Amino acid sequence: MGMKKTFFTALFGGLFALMLCFSGAVAASTGERIYKEHCVSCHGVEGDGRGSTLNPPPRDFTSMQSAFELDPIRIYISTTKGRPNTAMAAWDSRLSRDEIRQVSDYVYDTFVADVKAALPEDLRLNLEVGEKLYMDNCSVCHGDFGETGVWTRSNMATAPRNFTTDRTKGELSRKRMIESITYGRAGKAMMPYGSRLTQQEISSMVDYVRLALMGLPVEAVMAEKSILEGSQRDIPSTGLAFDDPKRFMSIPFPDGLYGDPNEGREIFVRNCFVCHGVKGDGQGPRAFFINPKPRNFISSDSRRALNRPKIYEAVYNGLPGSVMPAWSKVLSDQEVANVAEFVFRAFIRSDMPGVSEEDLDKVKQKKNE
Ligand code: HEC
Ligand code: HEC
Ligand code: HEC
Repeated sequence: MGMKKTFFTALFGGLFALMLCFSGAVAASTGERIYKEHCVSCHGVEGDGRGSTLNPPPRDFTSMQSAFELDPIRIYISTTKGRPNTAMAAWDSRLSRDEIRQVSDYVYDTFVADVKAALPEDLRLNLEVGEKLYMDNCSVCHGDFGETGVWTRSNMATAPRNFTTDRTKGELSRKRMIESITYGRAGKAMMPYGSRLTQQEISSMVDYVRLALMGLPVEAVMAEKSILEGSQRDIPSTGLAFDDPKRFMSIPFPDGLYGDPNEGREIFVRNCFVCHGVKGDGQGPRAFFINPKPRNFISSDSRRALNRPKIYEAVYNGLPGSVMPAWSKVLSDQEVANVAEFVFRAFIRSDMPGVSEEDLDKVKQKKNE
C-alpha cells in the first residue's frame, strides 16, 4: 500500500514535471528560435552585440543603459518598425505580430530583465531616485534618453549637453558633473541645483546619468564614486535641512578651495575698492564714471543672490558687457578664493570687519615702498 502510494505519487509527480517542462520549453523556443535565426548574427548569443563592426553598433541588451531604456513594449516597437538610419531593420514584413511579441519577450527575459536585479540593493534604489529626479528636472532640456531634445538642440544659444556622445564620456568626470549641477554653468541655461537638491540627490542623479544614459561600466562608476565620497571636500555635506535657505549660503567654492578672508581684504583694497567701495556698496571713487554700476554687495538683492561659488565665478570670469574684469588673468585660483571669501564674509554675510582707514593706508604704504 505504502509502495503503491509512492509509486503513484512519483508517476504523477513525474508526469506533471514533464508537462511543465514541455510547455515551458515550447513557449521559450519560439522566441529563442526566432532570435537564433534572425537576430543572433548582429546581437550575438550573449545579447551584447560585441564583435560587430556596424556603426552605430547593435544594441548591447545586457548594459545598464538597456536596463533603463528597454522594456518589452519598446523592444516590440523597435523590432516592428526598425530604427531609422541604422542596420536595425523593420521586421513587420518578415515576422508575424505574434512572432515579434515572442522574440521581444525572449530578448527582455533573457538579457535585459536581470541586469537591474543583479545590482547591489543600495545602488538600485539610488538609480531609481536618480531616474525620477532626472525626469522631473533635467529631461526637458537634456532629453528622456540624455540625447538632448531636438527643440533645445536647435533653439538654445548653447545646446544642452548630449550625454550619449563619446566626447561627453571623455570630458565629464563625476566631479565636474557634480560641480556643474550644483553651481550651474555661468551664463548658460544650465542653472544651479545646489540650493534645491541635496548633495545626496545630486549624487543619485549623477549615478543615473553615468550608468543609464552615458552607459559607463558599473565598476568604473562605483570606483570613482567611492574615491570622491571618501573625501569630504569634494562632496560637502552642509548638515542643513534640504529646504533650509542657509544651505544656499553654505555652499563652498569649486575645486575644494578655501578662501582666507584676511588675505582677501588686502587684495580687495588693491584691486576692487576703486569700483566697489570700501563699504562694498558700489560707491568706489571710479564708480561714478561706470555703467552698468559696480555691484552693491550690501543690497538685499545681492544678499539673496550671491553665495561663494557665484562670487568666485564672477571674479574669476568677469562679467561680459561690463567693466568687471576677469581676475583669473592676474590672480591665482587661491587669491580669487581669498578675495571672494572676504566679499562674502564682510559684505554679504557681514560677520567680519570690512575695510578700515588703516587697511587703506597699509596698502598705500606697501605700494610706495
Ligand atoms: C543587421 C544587424 C541586426 C539584426 C539582424 C538585428 N538587429 Fe537589432 N539592432 C541592430 C542595431 C545596429 C541596433 C542599434 C540601433 C540604434 O542605435 O538605434 C539594434 C537595436 C535593437 C534594439 C534596441 C532598439 C531601441 O529601441 O533602442 C532592439 C530591441 C533590437 N535591436 C532587437 C532586435 C531583434 C529582436 C532582432 C531579430 C528579430 C534584431 N534586433 C535583429 C542591428 C541588428
Ligand atoms: C533649461 C535647460 C536645462 C536644464 C533644465 C538642465 N540643463 Fe544641464 N545643461 C544645459 C545646457 C545649455 C548645458 C551646456 C552648458 C555649457 O556648455 O556650459 C548643460 C550642461 C550640463 C552638464 C555638463 C556641464 C559641463 O561641465 O560641461 C551637466 C552634467 C548637466 N547639464 C546636467 C544637468 C542635470 C543633472 C539637470 C537636472 C537636474 C540639468 N542639467 C538640467 C541646460 C539645461
Ligand atoms: C573697474 C571696476 C571694477 C573693478 C576694479 C572690480 N569690479 Fe566687480 N563689478 C564691477 C561692475 C561694473 C559690476 C556689475 C556688473 C553688472 O551689474 O553687470 C561688478 C560686479 C561684481 C560682482 C557681482 C557678480 C554678480 O554675479 O552679480 C562681484 C562678486 C564682484 N564684482 C567682485 C569684484 C572683486 C572681488 C573685485 C576685485 C578683485 C572686483 N569686483 C573689481 C566693476 C568692477
